[in-house]
Amino acid sequence: MKISVIGLGYLGATHAVAMAKLGHSVIGIDNDPAKAEALNKGEIPFFEPGLSQALSEVISQGKVQFQSSHDENSASADIHFLCVGTPQSPDGSANTSYLYAAIEDLAPHLSQTALVVGKSTVPVGTAQELKNKLQSLVGFEPRIVWNPEFLREGTALEDSLKPDRIVIGYWHKEDSLPLLVAYEKLIKAGSPVVELDVPTAELVKVAANAFLATKVSFINAMAEVAEVVGADAVALSKAIGYDERIGNKFLRSGIGFGGGCLPKDIRGFIARAEELGVGQALSFLKEVDGINERRRQRVIELANKELGSLSGKNITVLGISFKPNSDDLRESPALEIARSLARAGAKVTVTDPKALHGLSDENLKPEPDTYTSLENAELVILATEWDEYKKLDPVQAKSKVANATIIDGRNVLDVSAWQAAGWKVIALGRTIRNG
Ligand code: UDX
Repeated sequence: MKISVIGLGYLGATHAVAMAKLGHSVIGIDNDPAKAEALNKGEIPFFEPGLSQALSEVISQGKVQFQSSHDENSASADIHFLCVGTPQSPDGSANTSYLYAAIEDLAPHLSQTALVVGKSTVPVGTAQELKNKLQSLVGFEPRIVWNPEFLREGTALEDSLKPDRIVIGYWHKEDSLPLLVAYEKLIKAGSPVVELDVPTAELVKVAANAFLATKVSFINAMAEVAEVVGADAVALSKAIGYDERIGNKFLRSGIGFGGGCLPKDIRGFIARAEELGVGQALSFLKEVDGINERRRQRVIELANKELGSLSGKNITVLGISFKPNSDDLRESPALEIARSLARAGAKVTVTDPKALHGLSDENLKPEPDTYTSLENAELVILATEWDEYKKLDPVQAKSKVANATIIDGRNVLDVSAWQAAGWKVIALGRTIRNG
C-alpha cells in the first residue's frame, strides 16, 4: 500500500520505518524541512535501539522517503497516518493544535477514498471534532479511524512490529478495512485486533497510561510507608507481584516515572475529565502525580541528610534520561533531581551513555566517561538504570570517589557487593544497614 505518515517525532519516525519494513511504500511528512532531510540521509534525531539500522535498510530498498509538505505522490496514498505530538499546555491539558494544523495541510490533498488514521494521543472527543473540521474543509465525509499507539521508547520498533494489541476505533466498520490490510502481517503473526467505537479507542490510550502511572506511584507510595516503618518496598513488590491479579510488571519502586507520555497523559486526562464534569472520577490521578513528584524530593532530602548541606558538595548523578535505552530528557526524574541539587548549591556532574547531547543546563557538568564522572564525588546518585551502571565495578568506582556513598534511585544495585567494596548504600523505600 502507499502510506503517508504525518509528523516525524518519536512516534511518526518509528511508524514510518515500521510500515516500510512491512513492505509498504511510505512517504513521511514533517513541516520541519531539516528533519525530513536528515531522515532521508538515514539520520534519526533521537536514540532508539535498532531504528537507525532499520531506516538505512528501508531507504536502500527505496521503501521510504521524507519530505516537508504534501505533493501529488503523498496525495495518492491509501492511508494517511496522523502522528503529530500533543504536548502539554501550561494548564495541564493536551495541546491538539498540531493535529488541526496537520489536517488543514492534508485537506487540499485528501481523496474521497483515502483513509485518515489518528495515532496521536488525544483527549477523548478530539477525533469527532477533527472529523467535523476535516469534513468542513473537504466538503465530503472523510474516512477516519482512531488507532492509538502503545510503543515504548527503547523498544519502539519491536513494539510497532509486534504490538500486543491493535486497537481500531471507527464510525463505519468498512473504514477499518484498509488498516486491517496494512497491518495484515502483524495480525497474521498473532497481534489481536480490538475493534471498538472512536471515543473508547481514544480512551484506551490514556486509560492504559494512567493505569501504568498508577502502578508505579502505588509501589512508590508503599515505598514512602516502608521508609517510615523499616520495611522493604522491593521485597514487598516481589511478594505482591506473585498474585497474578496484581502481576510483577511496572511495580519497580524508585525515583518515579517521567518521559514524553505518562506525566503529560495523566495531566491531560485530569484536565479533560474536569472539562467533561467528571473530574472527581480522576482526582486520584492528581495524587499519582503528587507521589511521583515527592520521590524526586525524597532524593534531595536523603542527599541533604547524608552531606549535612548541599552547598559546594560534589555530587555525581549517573544517568539523566528518563529511562535506559533512550536519550529522551522530557520530564526526566533523573535530570530534575540533578537540577534541584545544583539549585541547592551542589557541584553536580552528570553522565549518561546517550543523553548528554541534549543537556542545556549550564549548572550541570557533563562527563561522558562513567568512571571519570565519579572523580572526587562526595555522593553518587544512580538515577537511570542503564546496564552499564548496573554493572559498575564497586571496587574501581570506590577508587575514584572522595566519599563512597551511593543512593540507588532505581533499586538495581547488588547491595551486598557494593557494601563489601566499602560503600554505604542508601536506597529508596528500603532500610539498608550499612557497616
Ligand atoms: C509509555 C507507555 O509504556 C507506552 O505504552 C506508551 O505508548 C508511551 O508511554 P515510555 O514513556 O516509553 O512508554 O516509558 P515506560 O517504559 O512506560 O516508562 C515510563 C517511566 O516509568 C520511566 O521513567 C520508567 O523509569 C518509569 N518506571 C517504569 C518506573 O519507575 N517503575 C516501573 O516499574 C516501570
